[in-house]
Amino acid sequence: MAEHRVVCWDCGSNVEDPYVNTCPKCGGLLSVKMDLEPVKEMRPQDLRKEPIGVWRYAPFMPADPAQRVSIQEGGTPLYKTDRLAADVGIARLHVKFEGLNPTGSFKDRGMTIGVSHAKELGAKIVGCASTGNTSASLAAYAAKADMKCAVFLPSGKVAAGKLAQALFYGAKVLSVDGNFDDALNLAIKMADERKLYLLNSINPYRPEGQKSVLFEIIDQLDYEVPDRIILPVGNAGNISAVHKALQELEEVGWINKVPMLTGIQAEGAAPIAKAFRLESKDFVPEENPETVATAIRIGNPVSGRKALRAIYDTGGFSATVTDEEIISAQRLLGKTEGVCVEPASAASVAGLKKLLSLGIIERDEKVVCICTGNGLKDPDTIIKNSSSPIPCRNSVEDAERILSL
Ligand code: F0G
Repeated sequence: MAEHRVVCWDCGSNVEDPYVNTCPKCGGLLSVKMDLEPVKEMRPQDLRKEPIGVWRYAPFMPADPAQRVSIQEGGTPLYKTDRLAADVGIARLHVKFEGLNPTGSFKDRGMTIGVSHAKELGAKIVGCASTGNTSASLAAYAAKADMKCAVFLPSGKVAAGKLAQALFYGAKVLSVDGNFDDALNLAIKMADERKLYLLNSINPYRPEGQKSVLFEIIDQLDYEVPDRIILPVGNAGNISAVHKALQELEEVGWINKVPMLTGIQAEGAAPIAKAFRLESKDFVPEENPETVATAIRIGNPVSGRKALRAIYDTGGFSATVTDEEIISAQRLLGKTEGVCVEPASAASVAGLKKLLSLGIIERDEKVVCICTGNGLKDPDTIIKNSSSPIPCRNSVEDAERILSL
């Protein structure tokens, strides 16, 4: 396994206790410091002996590949989306479709590393709070690892497919009276009392697996670094993980420029975009976040400060999109590219459209939008925003009438 240690992201001190989620000295956020000296002896092509997926990048991961808990996560397509590009008015656009992971979202990348680490520690019960996807993913990996799993979900605010997945994989599902931020506080309290091993992205190991989405994008583009990567931001773990991956690729000398990381939030749940507008390094939590994109309905993102640093360090941007813009981008992806994403995922494309129209994104930039989750997780929203099925008698005449043939 690659050498590594856990450090405090704020004060830099080493953290020895594997069960804490914040720095015992200063209360800061944790991070994994990888020893990348062995990677400096390698070339990117050396990794291609392994199939594309999270574990191709094992030299960047703090887990033992021989002991992995895996259901073949990652290796998702990077579509060249020419029809979508023409529609929004940009020369070159790719979409990284994370909805094709085993449980239908990018969360599987983090969970393979997080649950492998939990197993190594001998954890018996793992848990998380979730807007839906994290819980679906953790439940699946816990099943694979033969661990008990408890998930804390905001009552009534989780898309049907995601709830079904957590129940299906055998997790204990606690429907918490409150929003995601309340559910996360409860899960953290349970972890602090050592009743469960927490696998939200405040855990420093899980985001390590999420770095792999960036490694794959760069690999799939043959190390031609795009100008910009756009992604939705909720609890802010993913954009922070992508930033860390970029820093590591720079450290080993495999890239010599970084894309501008651009984080998109829903207008009703936008503490990061608001902080960016104020040029602040910290954010003000929002009490009552609300959006159709329930996956990113989050007011107090645990990795919010890391996200802001990711945006500032890469010369990126943060903006909000309305629920209408999200739904319209979701439909556009389906109509032009045959790609079905959930509303939160469409926020990246909605953000691209908006920032192009504002002149913040140039029309000749090479852009990658990360679409984080599968549209089938939230069929209710799709059905609500689509036309109804047309009743048809069992006759050719009636079919012809309806189809105006
Ligand atoms: N897109 C989807 C589909 C998500 O499920 C999430 C987060 C995000 C984007 C935002 O990623 O939190 O790393 O900034 N979902 C979490 C969950 C909160 O519980 O499933 P982030």
